[in-house]
Amino acid sequence: MKKITDINIENKKVILRVDYNVPIENGKVLDNNRIIQSLETINYLKSKNAKIILMSHLGKIKSEEDKIKNTLIPVKKELEKILNEEIKFSEELKGTNLEDKINNLKPKEILLLENTRHMDYPEKLESNCDKELSSYWSSLGEIFILDAFGSAHRAHASTYGISEYLPHAIGFLIEKEIKELENIKEKSKTIILGGAKVSDKINVIKNLLPTSNKILIGGAMCGTFLKSQNINVGKTFVEDDKIKEVTKLIETNKIILPIDVITENGIKELNEITNEESIFDIGPKTIELFKSNLTNEKLVLMNGTLGLYENPNYENGTKKIFEFLSSNEINTIICGGDTGNASKKYEFIPYYLSTGGGAALEYLEGKELPALKIMED
Ligand code: 3PG
Repeated sequence: MKKITDINIENKKVILRVDYNVPIENGKVLDNNRIIQSLETINYLKSKNAKIILMSHLGKIKSEEDKIKNTLIPVKKELEKILNEEIKFSEELKGTNLEDKINNLKPKEILLLENTRHMDYPEKLESNCDKELSSYWSSLGEIFILDAFGSAHRAHASTYGISEYLPHAIGFLIEKEIKELENIKEKSKTIILGGAKVSDKINVIKNLLPTSNKILIGGAMCGTFLKSQNINVGKTFVEDDKIKEVTKLIETNKIILPIDVITENGIKELNEITNEESIFDIGPKTIELFKSNLTNEKLVLMNGTLGLYENPNYENGTKKIFEFLSSNEINTIICGGDTGNASKKYEFIPYYLSTGGGAALEYLEGKELPALKIMED
């Protein structure tokens, strides 16, 4: 796979596919981590006098209203603030206006295109990797650089299609992601998993089990694990079709489950959960149990929070475990935007914060990510 430093980009028109699918509220970017992480590649392109054509998706587009809601204009403003320079913008994703803007670009200048998924309505051209669109977009530049790690599991026109027509390479962000995720895949570690669904993470558990010392399970997903042990979890979300697989995983003796929990009625021993209650956090004994399993650990992978940390009644599990990881200086790799937000809230500084949500999980499952795969050709 070629790296950005392996190809000649001097004075070239470079299409840079980034992942600026960031949370936006009232026209403001709430978390700019993905934008910040893309700067190394942008600055490198500028140092080579490239003309930079930035492309990204934002959300999903299924109607004309979605197009108005999901515009990259707030991202343009955020990027202008960070780089302290004007970023040019094209609302058009096709046509002479767009082509003129690109032809007028000077070396080092940046043109951000509107959300690539605007081409998903009325016809799903971007997400279905339409050949004509891929070929048209590739005609706008001379080189394609993929740095959208968070979208590398999507074989879309802007992540995959363009690569079929242009010389291509990966940017610094993807290079770093691959290095860190490969590292965590191979090295001995403990995994902390939370969040709602077992089905999202079961393949990660299976793939990483051989290199993991322990896997600590919190969040609502512990409901399925506890139910598999015949514990009444009340109204907690359970994936019954995963009970068999989960039981097998528990038999490896590497899975550590909560021994007490917090429901809407406070701390509960496992045998005290009623049919009307739901699990919202791990309990104080479980926090101690998790800490004792982390004591001599050097490396931790965390995906998902241990409780509904946004609610102060249910934040203790997540907060105390972050405090423990921090005071014991345990190198922690975080995957998933929500876990990243929680780490920020508790001022926890991860050793590495992945920009990939679903893409990072698929990578850790051992799946091939199509947008990376085509980069190998
Ligand atoms: C993400 O945020 O996980 C990526 O940007 C991919 O977004 P998608 O799931 O809408 O393709």
